[in-house]
Amino acid sequence: MKIFALPGNTVLARGISRHLDAELGIFTVHRFPDGESYVRLLCEVKEQQTVIVCTLFQPDDKILPLYYLTKLLKDSGAKSVTLIAPYLAYMRQDKVFNPGEAVTSNYFAALLSSFVDRLITIDPHLHRHGSMSELYAIPCKAIHAAPLVSDWIRQNVVNPIIIGPDSESEQWVSKVAAAAESPFLVLEKVRHSDHEVEVSKPAVAAYHGRTPVLVDDIISTAHTMIETVGHLHVSGMVAPVCIGVHPVFAGNAYDDLVVAGAAQVISCNTIQHPSNRIDVAGLLATAISE
Ligand code: R5P
Repeated sequence: MKIFALPGNTVLARGISRHLDAELGIFTVHRFPDGESYVRLLCEVKEQQTVIVCTLFQPDDKILPLYYLTKLLKDSGAKSVTLIAPYLAYMRQDKVFNPGEAVTSNYFAALLSSFVDRLITIDPHLHRHGSMSELYAIPCKAIHAAPLVSDWIRQNVVNPIIIGPDSESEQWVSKVAAAAESPFLVLEKVRHSDHEVEVSKPAVAAYHGRTPVLVDDIISTAHTMIETVGHLHVSGMVAPVCIGVHPVFAGNAYDDLVVAGAAQVISCNTIQHPSNRIDVAGLLATAISE
């Protein structure tokens, strides 16, 4: 087996390869001055299983190099190409919210399914769909970071109260809380626009003296967390720890969240970011080898 890391994925790919004792594939990707991509394979892949690690935040820039590398591996004789996309993009536009909109979840799934053989991802944003097979036509494995998040909380936070910012978060917050042996609350959220969300006030009266830990799958603009941090401050709770599985952090989101009053911002390394404290390499290695 050879593991190929597209740019931005080297640290995680190295971690996975160490767990599996697998070799890293050698190739180059170059962007020409006109913006086109150049890809060159510099190792043998004939009859081998290959794995590409390519997390898919800011996916529009990544999808073509990923497509070219996949095609090249197959044309060079690779037996199979598995994509590890720890963060899987285009999972949120999963229905027509306003007339005339593209359901890009479906289109993106059809596109990826047309060229990779298998997909492994972490906590995909499955809200209105029950499973990946409702979207993807290839074998998919969706693994969960909840046990790792619980471990981190158990080791680092004394007396937590875990808070999920919206009803969608209940699925992972309840698991994280159970394993961390902590109570949890789930709030209600209404999104008005990309940057405008309203989150209900947490009923924390019974939890003063505990440390709030906000847990969400994706932190993008961070407005969901910022709203909740504000409510907690008004309620007189201590500054919360904010944990995101996928640290997308669009624009200044990370700084905004720190300025808003998060005591700590912690993430999984599904996307490389200075807030990474929870390593998913072992989980992914296990998923490949199963
Ligand atoms: C939404 O459904 C997700 O679970 C997250 O709550 C959301 O993506 C967070 O977005 P933002 O950081 O932009 O508020």
